[in-house]
Amino acid sequence: MIPTPHNGAKSGDIAKTVLMPGDPLRAKFIAETYLEDVVCFNTVRNMLGFTGTYKGKRVSVMGGGMGMPSIGIYSYELYHFYDVDNIIRIGSAGGIADDIKLRDIVIGMGASTNSNFAAQYQLPGTFAPIADFGLLRKAVETAEKKNIKTVVGNILSSDTFYDDNSNANSLWRKMNILAVEMEAAALYMNAARAGKKALCILTISDHVFTGESLSAEDRQLTFRDMMEIALEIA
Ligand code: HPA
Repeated sequence: MIPTPHNGAKSGDIAKTVLMPGDPLRAKFIAETYLEDVVCFNTVRNMLGFTGTYKGKRVSVMGGGMGMPSIGIYSYELYHFYDVDNIIRIGSAGGIADDIKLRDIVIGMGASTNSNFAAQYQLPGTFAPIADFGLLRKAVETAEKKNIKTVVGNILSSDTFYDDNSNANSLWRKMNILAVEMEAAALYMNAARAGKKALCILTISDHVFTGESLSAEDRQLTFRDMMEIALEIA
């Protein structure tokens, strides 16, 4: 099955752990900023992927796109066709809970969703997509060592960025959802089905209820903390 229609990598091109930002240019930035001996393994659809070393460890970084169908494809192929064991999504999210502030780092222990992604498994109930506990624990420990504050809990993976129901986020807030993004639930489900590991680390780039948002410069700066946590646990 490799190369796939979406990934031009050959067998062995990709490390066991892949960091996955949504934006392929952020993947390029991470590779150029943090990794040594970098090789680009994918350019199909400009969904750039790179493998290099971080403090001597082999690690890959690849864009995953926006939304569950997109990360669903890339993560499925990495787990099933490229022997990847761990995928760590690093992304941005909109704050939902009242005590979540701009620049906070939120780690998705669980990913609730309004998506129908789980229908394919034909389960006689609802599935709870969760992070891998080992990766989650390592991320929290690493952040504590670096004196970086994290908030761990339930996030929402939404199929809509622009939603016709203006009340939807308030309903999720009542259930103590911390933040909204668009990919983690599919990643967690693919990991569960493949018997592999996933984690989603997010930086709050805007707040759904207050409307505040980070400047481009602020984003670059605060995203560094999240990227460094991900690289340390890779
Ligand atoms: N909604 C969904 N995804 C996001 C948001 C949001 O408000 N902010 C950053 N990613």
